[in-house]
Amino acid sequence: MTLREKITEIIGNNLAVEEKLKEICLLLQKSFDHFHWVGFYFINGSKEELKLSEFAGKPTEHTHIPFGKGICGQVALSNKNFVVQDVQEQENYISCGIEVKSEIVVPIFQEGRNIGQIDIDSHDLSPFSEEDERILEYVCNEVARLDLDHMINPDPS
Ligand code: SME
Repeated sequence: MTLREKITEIIGNNLAVEEKLKEICLLLQKSFDHFHWVGFYFINGSKEELKLSEFAGKPTEHTHIPFGKGICGQVALSNKNFVVQDVQEQENYISCGIEVKSEIVVPIFQEGRNIGQIDIDSHDLSPFSEEDERILEYVCNEVARLDLDHMINPDPS
C-alpha cells in the first residue's frame, strides 16, 4: 500500500477524529527519516490563535500560538505553505528546541477557510522536497474531509 493509500485508509476507519489524527502523525513520523516532530494545530474558536491538537514527538510548550507569530502563526494568515529549510534564517520563529533545524507548515482548508495546519519539525538542514509538500497537501485535503467542528470551536481553554 502506498503512503497516500494508508492515509486515506486512516481517514475512513472507525476511530474518533483525534485518534485518526494521531495515527497520521505517527505514520508520517515513521515514514520519513527527516520528520522528527509531526503535529496538527487548529484555530481556537474566535481567539485568533492556533491550538495544538494531536502530535507525534517531544511534547512542546507551544500549545497556543497567536496568529502572526512564528512559522505556524504566519501560515494562519498567509494561507500558503511555508517551507523553512533553515530556521536560523527566520526572525519570526518560535523555537521548540535547539535540535530543530528546519520546519514545514501546510494549511488545511474547509470550504476555502484556513482552519488549521500540519506542522513538521526536522533535525536536519534543508531536508524538505517538493514531494514532501505534495504529500502533506494530500494529507491536509484528506483531513479536511473529517468533521472538525469540535476541533476548531473547542470548549474555552
Ligand atoms: N516552530 C513553530 C512553533 C511550533 S513547534 O515547531 C511545534 C513556529 O515557529 O511557529
